[in-house]
Amino acid sequence: MNINKKIYKDPFELSKFLSDEILEVSKKKINIALSGGSTPKLLFETLSTSYHNKISWNNINFYWSDERCVPPEHQDSNYGMTKKYLFNNILIPEQNIHRIEGEIAPKVAANNYEQKILNNIKKGSNDFPIFDWIILGLGTDGHTASIFPNSSLEIFPKNICAVAVNPQTNQQRITFTINLINNAKRVSFLVTGINKAKIIFEILSGKETAIKYPASLIKPPNGKLEWWLDEEAASLL
Ligand code: 6PG
Repeated sequence: MNINKKIYKDPFELSKFLSDEILEVSKKKINIALSGGSTPKLLFETLSTSYHNKISWNNINFYWSDERCVPPEHQDSNYGMTKKYLFNNILIPEQNIHRIEGEIAPKVAANNYEQKILNNIKKGSNDFPIFDWIILGLGTDGHTASIFPNSSLEIFPKNICAVAVNPQTNQQRITFTINLINNAKRVSFLVTGINKAKIIFEILSGKETAIKYPASLIKPPNGKLEWWLDEEAASLL
């Protein structure tokens, strides 16, 4: 598996180069799934300030790799965070935003989201939807999306979405499964900060210990895998 590491001086430089990449891909219709958490905030601010009138937002359909089971206005909502840092500052058609309904029963939300993906995203020969680009974060415990270590989600052979639980907070989540992520044309991890350096080292050095991290299972057989890192996160490589 060819793993493409892109290392930048700091989160600002990383956000600029990733914004340039989003500008490039937005010249054509594209389905992009975003991650949640705090790392993407700087990327969204960069897009909102320096790229808001350069990018053809109507070419991009936004999804999420996961969502917390909270209402959209809740401080934990990944959709809510993206709306605050990005959507409120750009002209994007409402119908291009495909949020996960965190406010309803998790199983119903997962089924609704799965159905939406099946209806909107073209499928491969394996009958799994193929996202053009999935941008993921990385937790210090090795989780990605809301696939946490020791969860049964890693072995779900057929689902494309599932209900998960964050073991730290017991908060329910809706998440892409590893099978769906690995079916994408392009998967990019966006990771910054010294607190992620150890886990980045374990995963990217192919350490035996990394096998317990769900993020280490992200290996799209027919897609590109990239790690967009700042120097702090890459400091042990
Ligand atoms: C979420 C994310 C999750 C996140 C990592 C990193 O809903 O929390 O999708 O996978 O990307 O936990 O979070 P930070 O960017 O806050 O470190």
